[in-house]
Amino acid sequence: MARDFSRRIRTWFARHARDLPWRHSRDPYQVLVSELMLQQTQVSRVLEYYPCFLARFPTLESVSRSRPAQVREAWRGLGYYARARNLHRLARTVSPPNGTGVLPNAPEALRALPGIGAYTAGAVASFAFERRAALVDTNVARVLRRVFAPRLDPKSSRGQRRLWEIAAAILPATGRATWSHNQALMELGALLCSARTMRCPECPVRPLCRTGLRRNP
Ligand code: ADE
Repeated sequence: MARDFSRRIRTWFARHARDLPWRHSRDPYQVLVSELMLQQTQVSRVLEYYPCFLARFPTLESVSRSRPAQVREAWRGLGYYARARNLHRLARTVSPPNGTGVLPNAPEALRALPGIGAYTAGAVASFAFERRAALVDTNVARVLRRVFAPRLDPKSSRGQRRLWEIAAAILPATGRATWSHNQALMELGALLCSARTMRCPECPVRPLCRTGLRRNP
């Protein structure tokens, strides 16, 4: 069932995914910036700011050499400025003379860095390093709950724990497939299985879905 689910969403993703700039990159810094921006900001707005930000700050080291106010200035328009402050802190932590200059690739090591929660750690590990790491954000949580556990309360800590368990249990065998799998989960949540509408007739996992099955027996 897990294998079938993953294959179905990856096949769908290959045909229907949006062409987004961060999906062409495996540069850990570029992936990190995209994921920080996407946490609280819509894709359409991130698309406007992401290229400018990377032009201004092309590397983690360029962030570490700047002042917090300069990073904040480049972040202007995206809101939630704690993210810019944390990016600057992270850059100072990782770059010389404090660090080696490279971002770690293990989710646990990423989580230890300023501003990196469980989601961002999984996202950077799987999207930049193609590691076999799970991720759950609100979109993924909604998809997993609807498909696998419709009665689960995603706001409870027990529900969250369960969602992370499900996300880990359904990962495909390789890191490379995990990249597509995780991107596909996010894309499904954005395009077909959104909070407002469920486009079940177009959904690649409709035959496996505990919510879709009930809605469309
Ligand atoms: N939201 C968070 N990460 C994303 C990604 N990689 N693609 C699209 N939307 C996202």
